[in-house]
Amino acid sequence: MILIEWNKELELGIPEIDKQHKKLVDMLNNFYTELEEGHKREAVEEFLKELEEYLAYHLDFEEKFMEEIGFPELDNHKKTHEMFKKLYAEEKERYMQGDEKALREIIAFAFSWLFSHIMKTDRKYAKYIQEKENTQ
Ligand SMILES: [Fe+2]
Repeated sequence: MILIEWNKELELGIPEIDKQHKKLVDMLNNFYTELEEGHKREAVEEFLKELEEYLAYHLDFEEKFMEEIGFPELDNHKKTHEMFKKLYAEEKERYMQGDEKALREIIAFAFSWLFSHIMKTDRKYAKYIQEKENTQ
């Protein structure tokens, strides 16, 4: 697995959301690096909880933002967030039940989801607000 390097392509041009996305990428990178160096179960559980909380905060922030700008595809976007949260919770539960393999799956899954979600789905509201600003 490779770490995600933050790059301009991941930027949406919305400073607060870019900041949050960058923090998520940093969290995942740090966690992955720590895992490679060996880890304590307690630290892993703490991290999974932290990540879950920050993700919930971020996804909620995005949804409020889309609502504020009147983004027409809000419902669909919300659904992809719900789906992700559900899968994350399931994988986390598997790990908590003792399935060690679930851990790497969580990271790989969170990485690839975040990456493609930012590139494809989040980009839509960024484009929407840009067009809106241009016509004002
Ligand atoms: Fe999103």
